[in-house]
Amino acid sequence: MPTRTSDRTTVQQYVKVFGDYPAVLARAPGRINIIGEHTDYNDGLVLPMSIERCVMAACGPSKGNTIRWYSDRYGCAEFDVKASDPYVGTGWTAYVAGVIAGIRDQGIQIPPLNIAITSDIPPGKGLSSSAALEVAVALSILEYVDVPLEPVVIANLCREAENHYVGVPCGIMDQYAALFGICGHAVFIDCMSGDFQHIPVDDSFVFVLYDSEEERALVSSGYPDRNRECREALAWFADRETTILSFRDLEISRLFEHRGEIPEVLFRRTLHVLTENRRVLKTVSALNRRDDSTVGRLLFQSHRSLAHNFGVSTQSLDNLVKKAWESRYICGARLHGGGFGGYTINLIPQKNVSRAHEIMGQNGIEVRSGKGAESWRI
Ligand code: GLA
Repeated sequence: MPTRTSDRTTVQQYVKVFGDYPAVLARAPGRINIIGEHTDYNDGLVLPMSIERCVMAACGPSKGNTIRWYSDRYGCAEFDVKASDPYVGTGWTAYVAGVIAGIRDQGIQIPPLNIAITSDIPPGKGLSSSAALEVAVALSILEYVDVPLEPVVIANLCREAENHYVGVPCGIMDQYAALFGICGHAVFIDCMSGDFQHIPVDDSFVFVLYDSEEERALVSSGYPDRNRECREALAWFADRETTILSFRDLEISRLFEHRGEIPEVLFRRTLHVLTENRRVLKTVSALNRRDDSTVGRLLFQSHRSLAHNFGVSTQSLDNLVKKAWESRYICGARLHGGGFGGYTINLIPQKNVSRAHEIMGQNGIEVRSGKGAESWRI
């Protein structure tokens, strides 16, 4: 794990690379998702919580004609401010280029500038390092040019950067979590209306992430296929019933009436989305009642659905969840994030954490909830 990202390390990085002090600093956290997986791009419900690990972006003036950015993890990229399209390639640079394009699309002019980016969110593990990168860069540029945009507009432009520049057809969960997370609370988001609500999370329990040691990049994983299958399933229903415009218009009983007609794989994908939305609602009310054993049960149910109906688990993720299921120290577990590798998320009473680590055979990352995005002048 790299050194923890802080204001100081980010300013130092900026000074080292650009030989001057930055003018503004911005921070955006990663997130865990308690429950509500693969529902955000299906107009569904999600329950992420921002974490202490974050991406920071320091921004300041450049004497040249370029926008240059440097990441402690990936290196340097730049483009000429006069170029109409800031697209400069693939990989991590596409995230930054997409955000710059999105800000310009709002009619905001960006002058030549330098950006230094630091991060302590492990990449490729489902902790939303990409959305944190997008949001931190957007906030630093907007603070620098001194144009406040509504957080919802920032969230949407960052999502579009990921959809159109990086090519991941993700939903809005990660960007909302980065922007609206607050300490000690999960963010319950309705991805259809964009409404959200903060839900307090009991601190006698901790969320622990165990590592499957499989890395995945969303763009090359089965994620785009799942997205396409969901669109096909929705189109199948919309063709038959004009009242169905979204999965939210479809009842589970109605879905079962069509079993046998709709291709089985589309039936299963839909079943996951509909039941996962219900589990999110049940989890929110269980958290409000401080009923952690129900939350744990819902996590196990979510894993079964993600593995059997949505097809995004792997042998290692299944093994980790099975171990957790067999242990009496862990209330609930499931694969976390998009799947195809990364971590499992486990709900564990504080007093059982070290026993749980012994049984799982690894230390796990104990998650503390962090604060959301912020930007400031320095
Ligand atoms: C990734 C995406 C999110 C969401 C999850 C799955 O993290 O970035 O938008 O779809 O997968 O729930």
